[in-house]
Amino acid sequence: MQGQRIDVVSEKPYPVFLGAKLEELGEYLRTRLVEGTHLIIITNPTVGELYLDSLQKGLKDFRVSTIIVPQGEEEKSLDRISELTSEAIKLGADRKSVVLALGGGVIGDLAGLFASLFMRGIPYVQIPTTLLAMVDSSIGGKVAVNHPAGKNLIGDFYPPLAVWSDFSTLETLPWEEMLNGLAETVKHALIADESFLSFIEENQERVCQRDMDLYKELTARSSAVKVKLVSEDEKEQGKRMLLNYGHSFGHALEAEASYKGITHGQGVSIGMVAASYLALERGMLTIADVARTIKLLKVLGLPVEIAQKEPQKLLELMGADKKNHQGQKVLVLLKGLGQAIVVRDAQDEEIYRAWKKVIV
Ligand SMILES: NC(=O)c1ccc[n+]([C@@H]2O[C@H](COP(=O)([O-])OP(=O)(O)OC[C@H]3O[C@@H](n4cnc5c(N)ncnc54)[C@H](O)[C@@H]3O)[C@@H](O)[C@H]2O)c1
Repeated sequence: MQGQRIDVVSEKPYPVFLGAKLEELGEYLRTRLVEGTHLIIITNPTVGELYLDSLQKGLKDFRVSTIIVPQGEEEKSLDRISELTSEAIKLGADRKSVVLALGGGVIGDLAGLFASLFMRGIPYVQIPTTLLAMVDSSIGGKVAVNHPAGKNLIGDFYPPLAVWSDFSTLETLPWEEMLNGLAETVKHALIADESFLSFIEENQERVCQRDMDLYKELTARSSAVKVKLVSEDEKEQGKRMLLNYGHSFGHALEAEASYKGITHGQGVSIGMVAASYLALERGMLTIADVARTIKLLKVLGLPVEIAQKEPQKLLELMGADKKNHQGQKVLVLLKGLGQAIVVRDAQDEEIYRAWKKVIV
């Protein structure tokens, strides 16, 4: 196999294959599963059209079924889990069947939760096809669907059998989707790896030009940060929380806009800038650090400020963050570029001032 393998340390350890080929997954599965195992590929129409053939090519030794789920975040629902159950039963699925989740984070979260529940749990493989899914959602075993009361409210920690990332699938990804993954990639550099931050800065033009050779290294290094943090803290009791950098602010922006008109990556980008202003006020970052962060995000085409928002409303929305503890807002702040800490004593006044800095 080409590419690289990193193992996630977990109650149930699993390998992450970076730079693998879709056509070669079958060869790997033959080392893990008995011949003739029933594989259920779950994907959506866009990804299915582009990549089902390549994936299926290598799966000749297995019995393969495919379920195509309609497109969109709204498909992450308990209703869709119920529909998947009906379809799987019709296809003759049993406790020995294995799910292959082919797609972005929506498919990964949905198919992963389905696998965790079907007949009390069957194995699944994450086959991420977006940058966000490669560097973030496919790694770490979190699976979930949404509920009218909030995003990802019904979920589990359910590690996959393996993660199989074929970087060439990024070639067809729309730029707006790439930006969602780039926001998480910059986040990984900011919280854990200053040399990776310099690497992105030095190669910013190639990032914007979608140079696929560059993306191989970018994706591998970003994924490695996530693997390291979830390996150190599988159930998000400590270090894994650092991955929420920029997200408490970002989620408030997304919620305020009812998840329309602002993408997740845009929310995280502005959120990281707001968090860096708060860290600046606390003396944890220098003005040069903040300027460096803003410059990079801008060059990549990510927003660093937002117009016409009410800081008090955004502050209140942050009060509903799942990560808060006993009424206290829990934030992740940088104490230098490449190093992050969890802060449990942030005061509303300083958060309000940070919001004011990014609202124009
Ligand atoms: N489980 C976790 O730890 C975790 C972490 C972060 C985000 N998430 C979840 O991930 C989801 C977002 O994932 P996403 O950003 O991958 O979005 P997505 O899954 O909606 O995919 C984005 C779009 O890109 C299309 N697409 C996917 N791969 C493509 C390809 N190779 N070429 C062309 N088009 C392609 C999809 O059809 C879709 O329209 C959210 O539901 C979020 O809650 C989960």
